Amino acid sequence: MSRLSISGVEKSFGALKVLHGVSMTVEPGEVHGLLGENGAGKSTLLNILCGVLSPDRGTVQIDGRPVTITSPRAASEAGIAMIHQELQQVPELTVAQNIFLGANLRRGPFTARAAQEAEARRLLAPLDPTIDVTAPVKSLRVAARQLVEIAKALRARAKIIAMDEPTSSLTPAEFEKLAQVVQKLTAEGVSVIYVSHKMDEVFRLCHSATILRDGRFIERVKLPETPVAQVIAKMVGRELVHATHVSYAKPKVILQAQGLTGGPVRDVSFTLHQGEVLGIAGLVGSGRTELLRIIAGVDSSTGSLTLNGQAPGQGPRARIAAGLGLLPEERKRDGIIRHRPVTTNVGLASMKAFTTGGLIAKRRLHARTEALMKDVGLRPLDVTKPIGQFSGGNQQKAIIGRWLAADTQVFLFDEPTRGIDVGAKAEIYALIERLAAEGRSVIVVSSEMPEVIRLSDRVMVMREGRISATLSGPDITEANIAHNAIPA
Ligand SMILES: Nc1ncnc2c1ncn2[C@@H]1O[C@H](COP(=O)(O)OP(=O)(O)OP(=O)(O)O)[C@@H](O)[C@H]1O
Ligand SMILES: [Mg+2]
Repeated sequence: MSRLSISGVEKSFGALKVLHGVSMTVEPGEVHGLLGENGAGKSTLLNILCGVLSPDRGTVQIDGRPVTITSPRAASEAGIAMIHQELQQVPELTVAQNIFLGANLRRGPFTARAAQEAEARRLLAPLDPTIDVTAPVKSLRVAARQLVEIAKALRARAKIIAMDEPTSSLTPAEFEKLAQVVQKLTAEGVSVIYVSHKMDEVFRLCHSATILRDGRFIERVKLPETPVAQVIAKMVGRELVHATHVSYAKPKVILQAQGLTGGPVRDVSFTLHQGEVLGIAGLVGSGRTELLRIIAGVDSSTGSLTLNGQAPGQGPRARIAAGLGLLPEERKRDGIIRHRPVTTNVGLASMKAFTTGGLIAKRRLHARTEALMKDVGLRPLDVTKPIGQFSGGNQQKAIIGRWLAADTQVFLFDEPTRGIDVGAKAEIYALIERLAAEGRSVIVVSSEMPEVIRLSDRVMVMREGRISATLSGPDITEANIAHNAIPA
């Protein structure tokens, strides 16, 4: 008997139908992939399963019994836990408090704090024992916060744990740890539903997968025996072409950094040329994100930075005005205003250009945004919709558009394709290449080695806040990057 059997689920948002009779079955102790492009309906289906959304039609059975999931609490009682794509944590509360959110251990009228902390520590031990359970969640980086969510699902002792892109910001080592945890869970009979755009992970972890395309059920496949190309073809409905790196770098120096030091970043010097794509590789915690934040003026530092031979001023506003644009790693916190339309979110960095006598030229902003969103492949192409109503990957595309709208000379991309599907990834790569071809300069931080290698003219490897190597041409290899990234 199947652990979970979903059948004929339909869901519309207003006039937009996003799920057309979707079915999915998951066996006990199985890791089941839920695959599809950005906007295919994966998160929507999982949100229905965990009681955040209610379906218009369709049935859910657990262990052969029909269940009606009317709320997150009902889902939890039915044995379903979910790790959301956009983390749903209370940033001010501690790690332990977040793990026990809505399920506090009690001692009389009081929360049993010490017991909760001890249990939180036990749950986190196999994931990352260095996480301080008494620290507020907001003080943690994305990777650690993901692990806290996973610990919370473990705490709830769910029979079915749905993970919506749980590893999109984990290091390979952290993924290994998670893979072990998932395997242990399944050995105990827990079923895991796994959403990821990383095919190598999916093929390593999953026993089977459901493929969705445009909100429709396409096929249930056995893994890993189904060829990856076949799975991707079913997801995207077409063949993908594989492109190689083209360089547009010119000799002219655009950005020059000398001895940048601040936070974890130690004495970083480099030059960036016109039309160049400079990759930054390194492990999480090596200072890559912080370096980008220093360049963007978000974090302060000592040392010097010049843009076109001049100091670009201090603070993010001055840096944006000077032509530096940062696409942050964590969209939810730094990037977007969820309830405002795409136009507003795209116009944020370039409002001046659309403001005449204090009024925003709405028409122009609309037209410009629409053109940009067509370029980045926003789906659906409706720029009046609140950005929060788009799928995760499509939100990312909109944010990229923001920096295209501003007159940005140097693009600072932090994990630009995190959460972006295989098809749209190629579109983002093409976009970055086009920026370079137009004479703009790009710095890309990425944890995905094939991505850094594919995109970069040169690769700086960071280790413990310093640049451990700068690679170019044929020296840009996975082995060289890995060798220089790992602390001695
Ligand atoms: N609250 C909402 N209101 C309106 N439309 C929505 C809402 N939430 C999602 N949608 C739409 O439903 C469709 C499916 O979105 P969903 O988030 O399920 O995609 P996904 O498969 O998880 O994609 P991704 O890989 O990008 O996360 C998209 O077209 C999206 O724009
Ligand atoms: Mg999603």
